[in-house]
Amino acid sequence: MKYLIAPSILAADFSCLGTEVKQVLDAGADVIHFDVMDNHYVPNLSFGPVVLESLKRRFPDVPFDVHLMVKPVEGMIDAFLAGGASYISIHPESTEHPHAALSRIRNGGAKAGIVVNPGTSLDVVLPMLEEADLLLIMSVNPGFGGQKFISSSIEKVRTAKIVLQELEHEVRLEIDGGVTVENIGALAAAGADMFVAGSSIFGKEDYCQAIADMRAELASTSGA
Ligand code: DX5
Ligand code: ZN
Repeated sequence: MKYLIAPSILAADFSCLGTEVKQVLDAGADVIHFDVMDNHYVPNLSFGPVVLESLKRRFPDVPFDVHLMVKPVEGMIDAFLAGGASYISIHPESTEHPHAALSRIRNGGAKAGIVVNPGTSLDVVLPMLEEADLLLIMSVNPGFGGQKFISSSIEKVRTAKIVLQELEHEVRLEIDGGVTVENIGALAAAGADMFVAGSSIFGKEDYCQAIADMRAELASTSGA
């Protein structure tokens, strides 16, 4: 599966968000990661569907990877489907019916993702994988950018990859939180194929160099 690099705009300069998105796209980003926080499911507040709608108007062909950290989640699934999200991921803790929420995403025409928090066992999401196109492993606790990578996540990715290989359909394995040029190679070797990076891209002067350095690490890891 092609490796995808997904800069998280949570770490962008919001006073010039469109320019920031253009610059990471020009620098080689594959998808834009869009963190939605509600100060309820997570202790932080970010942005909602109107921001996606604006960005989609300016960048209609760009895939947006929407990570919903909101409770209740169902109404926001509908709003982000309408806003043009390509991927929508949900946390199983954010709804009474995560399996149904994944179907709702797929039926709406987007790829459905299920998220595993650092404190959640992979076993929790096993019954949902049949309805998922994406498994997102959190390598920090959700809510804030710029946190330290939880190193046990690498082992979790390795275990998840084994599970996904047994499935009859293809499921992407995404990693989110504290991803840097130093750990991206190990994550790819463990089986991750989609890499969210906020501060390790937007925190750098040169986005081109930051993404090129990550791609170089990925290229030296394996042949996906
Ligand atoms: C955390 C978010 C992440 C975050 C990543 O709740 O889901 O996507 O923006 O930021 P970094 O790469 O700085 O850890
Ligand atoms: Zn995220």
